[in-house]
Amino acid sequence: MSGSDADTTRDFATVRRIVRTRITQKVLADPSSPIHFDEEIRSACDPLVREAVLEAGWAPFHYNRAVDDLVEPWRATLLWQSQCREIASRLEGWIGDEAPVGKLPAMFAACGAAALVTWLPQFRDARAAGPEHEKRRAVDDEHLAATAALVQNALLLLTAAGFGTYWSSGGAALRHPDVLARLGIGPAEELLALLFVEYPGTPDDLDRKPGKNREGRSSGWLREVTLA
Ligand SMILES: Cc1cc2nc3c(=O)[nH]c(=O)nc-3n(C[C@H](O)[C@H](O)[C@H](O)COP(=O)(O)O)c2cc1C
Repeated sequence: MSGSDADTTRDFATVRRIVRTRITQKVLADPSSPIHFDEEIRSACDPLVREAVLEAGWAPFHYNRAVDDLVEPWRATLLWQSQCREIASRLEGWIGDEAPVGKLPAMFAACGAAALVTWLPQFRDARAAGPEHEKRRAVDDEHLAATAALVQNALLLLTAAGFGTYWSSGGAALRHPDVLARLGIGPAEELLALLFVEYPGTPDDLDRKPGKNREGRSSGWLREVTLA
């Protein structure tokens, strides 16, 4: 351990506060009159969002994915206000009746920015059975787990920077290969998280919804083992 006791106590308290402060809040606006953040807010916030997502890339990962000379098993695609508003108005037309868009247009109409976090399955098409298959599946599981670590890092960093956040799976509409292709994401990538980022200055009177599982939290999942 490095640093003084006072440093570690303070650091622990800070990290714990950020972990506890992160909260799911879905912010919804009418897609036909989306929220507009002026240039001053965007030029202050957009670089912070970019930095938070980049720093989140210090997440641990087990295996060198080795695609495009990159070791990481994840990719992140940032969507700024103008792209978010375009998606809000065009998503339904893109997807037709292939998948429900749900509240996605309303959230793309309210957010300051969004990020799509994808991962690169390595053995998705592998047909080998038996132990070799198990080993490969475990590698893919760990690519996915590492990408989830990046997402949580990003949520914590964004929370620490004062942004509101919401981790959406993206639903069938955003996971649809045609929609992902429009956003520059090819078939080798799978969407893990659509992160909505709420900017300061978002009107208070917008519709807001919490995450549905928050109230059920407990500490009952923690075990300690005493070996005989
Ligand atoms: C992998 C993952 C996917 C999620 N996808 C959705 C989603 O599609 N829709 C949703 O309402 N919440 C989604 N959530 C957010 C959870 O509902 C939320 O984290 C949970 O209710 C606990 O609330 P809290 O984040 O405020 O503690 C997702 C969370 C995770 C980790």
